[in-house]
Amino acid sequence: MRTRFTELVGCEAPIQVAPMAGITTPELAEAAVKAGAHAMIGAAGMTASEVAGILEGTDKKSLNAFGINFLIPFLEPEPLELAASRAPLIDFYMGEPDKSLVELVHARGALAAWQVCTCDEALAAVEAGCDVIIAHGLEAGGRNPSQVGLFPLLAQVLDAVDVPVVAAGGIGTARGVAAALAAGADGVRLGTRFVAATESGAHPRYVKALIAADTGDTVITDAFSVMWPSGPLSHRVLRAALEAAEAFEGEFVGEAVAGSEAVPLPRFLVSPPTKSVTGAIEAMALYAGESVGAVKSTQPAGDIVRELMDGAEELLCKAAALS
Ligand SMILES: Cc1cc2nc3c(=O)[nH]c(=O)nc-3n(C[C@H](O)[C@H](O)[C@H](O)COP(=O)(O)O)c2cc1C
Repeated sequence: MRTRFTELVGCEAPIQVAPMAGITTPELAEAAVKAGAHAMIGAAGMTASEVAGILEGTDKKSLNAFGINFLIPFLEPEPLELAASRAPLIDFYMGEPDKSLVELVHARGALAAWQVCTCDEALAAVEAGCDVIIAHGLEAGGRNPSQVGLFPLLAQVLDAVDVPVVAAGGIGTARGVAAALAAGADGVRLGTRFVAATESGAHPRYVKALIAADTGDTVITDAFSVMWPSGPLSHRVLRAALEAAEAFEGEFVGEAVAGSEAVPLPRFLVSPPTKSVTGAIEAMALYAGESVGAVKSTQPAGDIVRELMDGAEELLCKAAALS
């Protein structure tokens, strides 16, 4: 299953684990990459020494088909410069495509990607010099300012740009992977499905809530925006998490353990619960895409990658036999 994306980033399968800060651990990235996928590690809000820790992990594991992701509102120069000089790909989201950032990334030897929600943004990203575009639809879990579904956006973007395009949002099954590839995408990015990977950093009760949820159990809200730098912003979460947070009485929903310190977590905090968090997990930001219906159990990331690839290949072969 070679595509322009797999050729560019050096992986075997046109599947990418989405960047999810605190959730896509180096262990998750390693397991997915070993199975042939590409993996993004989210570094939003991390310090340079935290990013250095991730890079030490990827060096030890000799990972090459991976990248580091930054959310523009949290961007600091030092972690970005460090990541761009050591990771093969740097990916940005939640800000206007910026030529100076793309040039900085290229100057340090990495490829640059931008996750976009409109066709105009895709054109601006290409104009800024990006090597890869991620088309992000309304179905996606996490921060989500998209106004249209993935497939209408993907069709527009594919017609408008000539760099590899990765499709993101609502894809959780082999059918979704096959559909995006058949439409012309060079790769697919999956987030929610990998939150439930064995190697994920997500809290086990978050994973349990994903497994219990069905396709229609997510909602777009701007409620979980505490500590998002620019104020309330749309995101897709489990409806049950929003209802639990609204019903929660008190200022703090739990604590995060950082070294010997326990940091109180305010209600409606932007961060999803990782394994180091305690408290009312069900009332925290349980980000989930419409792909959540495909999350049926906890599985090793490698098994998820193989299931998606084998299934997509079979479907695409069947479709080719019809023609
Ligand atoms: C728990 C979670 C955390 C996320 N964190 C980030 C992030 O740090 N940076 C980013 O660019 N996208 C982030 N996303 C969005 C993903 O990059 C991707 O677009 C999305 O997961 C695709 O939709 P899906 O969840 O239906 O697969 C996150 C998504 C989820 C579910």
